[in-house]
Amino acid sequence: MAAQKAFEPLKIGVIVGREWSWPPAFIDEVNRRKTGVTAEFAKLGGTRMNEPVPYRVLVDRISHEVPYYRSYLKNAALQGARVVNDPFMWTADDKFFEASLADRLGVASPRTLVLPNKDYVPGIVHTESLRNLIYPLDWNWITEYVGIPCVLKDAHGGGWRDVYIVHSVEELIFRYNQSGLLTMIVQEYIRWENYARCMCLGGEDILVMKYDPRTRTYFAEHDFEPALYERIRRDALALVQALGYDMNTVEFAIRDGIPYAIDFMNPAPDMDINSLGEAHFRWCVTHMADLCIRLAQSGEPTRDRYHWGKEAG
Ligand SMILES: Nc1ncnc2c1ncn2[C@@H]1O[C@H](COP(=O)(O)OP(=O)(O)O)[C@@H](O)[C@H]1O
Ligand SMILES: [Mg+2]
Repeated sequence: MAAQKAFEPLKIGVIVGREWSWPPAFIDEVNRRKTGVTAEFAKLGGTRMNEPVPYRVLVDRISHEVPYYRSYLKNAALQGARVVNDPFMWTADDKFFEASLADRLGVASPRTLVLPNKDYVPGIVHTESLRNLIYPLDWNWITEYVGIPCVLKDAHGGGWRDVYIVHSVEELIFRYNQSGLLTMIVQEYIRWENYARCMCLGGEDILVMKYDPRTRTYFAEHDFEPALYERIRRDALALVQALGYDMNTVEFAIRDGIPYAIDFMNPAPDMDINSLGEAHFRWCVTHMADLCIRLAQSGEPTRDRYHWGKEAG
């Protein structure tokens, strides 16, 4: 209750990049409902330490590309605001950890392996600074595990950047040699017969959509059998609950009826009307409004596992 009082009136601040369709629709939806919670674009121009935050909830759609926002949001979490998504988890996350987590949770995952970096910052002297690393890489051991073809991708990547489907060991080495400072994972290629992408909100609402990654289009209707649909929904739920993301998309490549979790590190998921289509877009607008209004009213913080001292206000 103390936290709720400190933030009255209850405001949701939205932090966005160039996306144009979802943000104004979301803000209109929240304000139209007249619940005592309002939404607006947050305005930031440098932040003092422990600066109070006028927002009870902050929706972050772009801090992966505007790092100052990430710093702002960590301070906002310290002040007691509820940040969607948790900036600490987002900062810590990577695709290799996520593959291990999926496997641990019993969610089917392509066999995945993380590789030592190819290149380093100038301060690293190869003969002195890398004493923990085994050289050279054993490419036979690597490809024995993941098979050929396989997928080489940036452990921290997004938006299909630095994703390579390779068809020979030579091609794998060639791509690896170009990976520079990135941390790459190499993964079994799933030859899929169907593909799903799930919008996952609040760790409870799952919209399972049929998706074609070749054309990057969503279908208005899916064609998954009930048992497969249920497994996709359950697996997506298990992943987002374990990761603690409030908004995320989880992708599955379906091979022989088994959904393999391919990419589920999308903490600023595409919510554009032109890619999702009208019905899926409306679902995102209304469910994000439900979620953020609920979070604003609940007064819960972003994190409760840290010992951060007295609550703001
Ligand atoms: N292991 C895999 N098997 C089959 N296809 C894959 C695999 N990994 C990635 N892809 C394809 O490449 C696309 C981009 O890879 P993804 O892991 O989603 O990277 P990003 O985070 O850049 O979107 C996926 O949507 C999928 O179509
Ligand atoms: Mg992806």
